[in-house]
Amino acid sequence: MLSYAIFSVLVLAISATPVVYKDCGSVKGTINSIDVSSCATEPCQFRRGTNISVTINFKANEAVTGASTVVHGIIAGVRVPFPVPSDACKDMACPIASGASVAYSNVVYVEPVYPKIKLVVQWEVRDQAGQDLVCFVIPVEISD
Ligand SMILES: *[C@@H]1O[C@H](CO)[C@@H](O)[C@H](O)[C@H]1NC(C)=O
Repeated sequence: MLSYAIFSVLVLAISATPVVYKDCGSVKGTINSIDVSSCATEPCQFRRGTNISVTINFKANEAVTGASTVVHGIIAGVRVPFPVPSDACKDMACPIASGASVAYSNVVYVEPVYPKIKLVVQWEVRDQAGQDLVCFVIPVEISD
């Protein structure tokens, strides 16, 4: 009985961890894992007035000398730019050698004035030529 309870807790803890995401064209990199806080359930619950941390582990398929973060919200099919600091080399160590494993981590603040809506968040990390090292989308609900 006890071991069953422990097993259930373990399974829950493990199965709640991975974020459900779709790769939307990571051509210059290969995603190993994505960790977004508040994504234990689908859609991710982005609570207003909180910080959301985004951690991406990926492999670079080329040498990277510069990179930018580009985030969009897709609201009822319309892509809306989401303001984030552009320089992705502040969120990971640059330059990056081809084949290297990269840990990228960023934080976004969910403004209290954001509307409570469901949307899809598209997160891109682009290389020096503007091509995607990483592109993923996750379903998100903005809540209280
Ligand atoms: C969010 O993060 C910023 C910068 O790291 C920090 O100054 C702020 O206090 C955080 N806010 C909350 C609600 O955690």
